Amino acid sequence: NKVVLAYSGGLDTSVIVPWLRVNYGCDVVCFTADVGQGVMEMDGLEKKAKDSGACQLVVKDLKEEFVKDYIFPCLRAGAIYERKYLLGTSMARPVIAKAMVDVAKEVGADAVAHGCTGKGNDQVRFELTFFALNPDLKVVAPWREWEITGREDAIEYAKKHNVPVPVSKKSIYSRDRNLWHLSHEGDILEDPANEPKKDMYMMSVDPEDAPDRPEYLEIGIVSGIPVSLNGREFSPAALLTKLNEIGGENGIGRIDMVENRLVGMKSRGVYETPGGTILFAAVQELESLTLDRESIQEKDRIALKYAELVYAGRWFDPLRKAMDAFMKEITETTTGSVTLKLYKGSVTVVARKSPYSLYREDISSFENGEIYNQADAAGFIRLYGLPTRVRAMLEKGI
Ligand code: ARG
Ligand code: SIN
Repeated sequence: NKVVLAYSGGLDTSVIVPWLRVNYGCDVVCFTADVGQGVMEMDGLEKKAKDSGACQLVVKDLKEEFVKDYIFPCLRAGAIYERKYLLGTSMARPVIAKAMVDVAKEVGADAVAHGCTGKGNDQVRFELTFFALNPDLKVVAPWREWEITGREDAIEYAKKHNVPVPVSKKSIYSRDRNLWHLSHEGDILEDPANEPKKDMYMMSVDPEDAPDRPEYLEIGIVSGIPVSLNGREFSPAALLTKLNEIGGENGIGRIDMVENRLVGMKSRGVYETPGGTILFAAVQELESLTLDRESIQEKDRIALKYAELVYAGRWFDPLRKAMDAFMKEITETTTGSVTLKLYKGSVTVVARKSPYSLYREDISSFENGEIYNQADAAGFIRLYGLPTRVRAMLEKGI
């Protein structure tokens, strides 16, 4: 039998390879998804996997799929978890796990394995995706089974099984990087009272060190999906890459929060989402022109649940899909452009335009116009306020 392992090349996933062979007696196919975690992580990966005892390494470039089919729908939905988190890791797990299910089929594996701990969200996201797409697959989560508890244990186990120990010093933080974001957890961050160190950040400069001159950007949007930057069209992944660069240079998109994990505990995380923060500002702003009052309110309400589902690993639930259909329909006319000003960590909207704008200067202007008759307001307010008057009459015994 054969198992497909979600493999990064780090110490932890490297040690899992011999552990699976010893404990499950199976061939190990390593799988690495390129979701934009950076080229460094891809170098020499096949040799590393094989030296660790894998029979094969499969690499798939999922960047465009990740941005187009996972990130952009969440952006269009306005999905934000617990007021702050732009779901970077949450969105990446289903696209990776789905690819693992495909790889398992391709190589004839009957099991899948991942290196998530038993204390986090990621294990849930991987496994709910496996369940949804192929309930026959056996799932192995070594962290929930083995005796290895720390880095020293892992190094010892690696040496015993001739697994090359990565020379690069492991970072003190638990990090997860992809095209949308970089997360930092652990070490000094575990005390929510500690300010993150300046040198921890990797995608963005400190806003204090950002250029003293503002940078203007124009984002083009078609039906709730960003398509262009300063009039030039880009593929989803290319657009995001470009915005990460520009946003990072201007110190955009740092988020420091304490969140509630699905498994019940609170955890402190710091996220860098430079391009994503710019895109959220742009897409949400355009809706202020294209959506009517109740559509916006209802959309925002559903977005909360949508974010919760994504965070909890329920990407392939029919409910998320149905909500996505709603989001697609309601943002059909959210087309146009938004101009933003980036300056030392802040994103300010300075202009928005849409051919479907519901804003009419001839109505909204302080100048008198034809369509809106101020005299109509008197009757409107009397009826709109009727319940208010009735209650006041009751209280005053009128
Ligand atoms: N707390 C975030 C989330 O649940 C980030 C998790 C980061 N994962 C990791 N393996 N380092 O989505
Ligand atoms: C992990 O525990 O594997 C990372 C953190 C998380 O999944 O929330």
